[in-house]
Amino acid sequence: MRLTVIGCGYVGLVTGACLSAAGHEVFCTDIDEKRIAQLKAGEVPIYEEHLDDVLRRAVKEKKISYTSDAGEAIRAGEVIFICVGTPPKENGEADLSAIDHVARQIAQEARSPKLVVEKSTVPALTGIQLQKALAAYSPNGTVQFQVASNPEFLREGSAVSDFFHPDRIVVGVEDAKSAKTLNEIYQPILEKKFHCPVHGDRCPKETSGELLVTTISSAELIKHASNSFLALKISYANVIADLCERIGADVEEVTRAMGLDPRIGTQFLKAGLGFGGFCFPKDIQAFIHLSATVGVEFDMLKAAERVNKQRIDRFFEKVHKALWVIRGKRVAVLGLAFKANTDDIRFAPALEVIRRLLEEGAQVQAADPQAISRTKQFYPNISYFEDPYEALKGADAALVCTEWPAYRKIDWEKAGHLMGRRLVIDGRNLYDTKRMQALGFDYHSFGRS
Ligand code: UGA
Repeated sequence: MRLTVIGCGYVGLVTGACLSAAGHEVFCTDIDEKRIAQLKAGEVPIYEEHLDDVLRRAVKEKKISYTSDAGEAIRAGEVIFICVGTPPKENGEADLSAIDHVARQIAQEARSPKLVVEKSTVPALTGIQLQKALAAYSPNGTVQFQVASNPEFLREGSAVSDFFHPDRIVVGVEDAKSAKTLNEIYQPILEKKFHCPVHGDRCPKETSGELLVTTISSAELIKHASNSFLALKISYANVIADLCERIGADVEEVTRAMGLDPRIGTQFLKAGLGFGGFCFPKDIQAFIHLSATVGVEFDMLKAAERVNKQRIDRFFEKVHKALWVIRGKRVAVLGLAFKANTDDIRFAPALEVIRRLLEEGAQVQAADPQAISRTKQFYPNISYFEDPYEALKGADAALVCTEWPAYRKIDWEKAGHLMGRRLVIDGRNLYDTKRMQALGFDYHSFGRS
């Protein structure tokens, strides 16, 4: 099928690349001409595992193309996936101006019927507005538009794998034809008819998750309800960690035992610096705002958000207690990205940690395998090192902010000789307390006795 993807951010890039790998012909467009030029030149603008392989293959097989001419892209596809950003406004509400702009473009440029699919994360009831906008912006009302919602559940860092091996594909539609079209688009994924960039020939043969057909409003709600629930789970684990510290219990023992109950599950109960990234913080705010708008009280989400914001305060309490005066100290910050396997630093806890360290007069020596160039735009005057051992040289303390696999393997015996003082404050609970202490470290983490 011929598909158009509008918006070449993280979601659009992964969606376009993976749908082309599933056998569709994909036309991508973005208002950022520089980004389109980069993509045309074969450069992948974000770091996402396997994405460059999938794109290279799609380009070679002429399954994907890029244009900054939105009209050309809109006319080329039978189905249009809207993948533009929906950033938070000051009051937490999702800013839908990019969706509105795209609706106008589609209505004005389309010459044949289109199925317009919301892939961007949007609050419930956006589908209804989108349908109205398409009709209102259509110059003579002759072109028919159907609207659908197809939320994505991709995690940065494993988005390509998630796309090809979904737990569920949700399609929110208003008519049987749109359901059939979306079902056809996802059949190659459901039937595993694609070259798996993650596992190659050893891709597990069991069929992928279910395709669920819902109403548009349900599909929109499923996305926000899922992300907010995961955020709640993380904040819950973080409060348990604080309790463990007071009582002398161990959060990992507690959450592991809790998680073995299948009704709870072990995932997303990792205590530490809390959640960051461009999804949870903004989605939880948008969900709080939506609930208030329709008169439903959702205070537990406000509490989850508050707990998350306080994680950095809790971290700094540990830093102050262990390091005492920060002014004039050399502090190594290990990890800048909001989580491992991505170069994304949006709402990354490390950024706020660095801001506070600088405010208190520390000299920051930051390390990250992927996110240095993005962070330099915010903090041009601190030292950066790809190699964590370089960042640790002469440091009075190491603050661990991202759970990069390479950081789990740091040889702390070697690092101890490089550091000015053996002090580690671990915001991601990566290391064994006893082992760190045996190596002579003053070691602090979250919720572990
Ligand atoms: C999240 C969801 O997991 C995806 O399903 C969803 O599609 C995506 O948002 C989105 O809306 O686009 P993502 O933001 O990539 O994905 O990252 P997660 O892996 O969910 O992690 C979010 C944050 O929570 C990270 O900062 C991570 O370090 C933190 N986290 C995660 C914890 O602090 N503890 C945990 O136990 C798990």
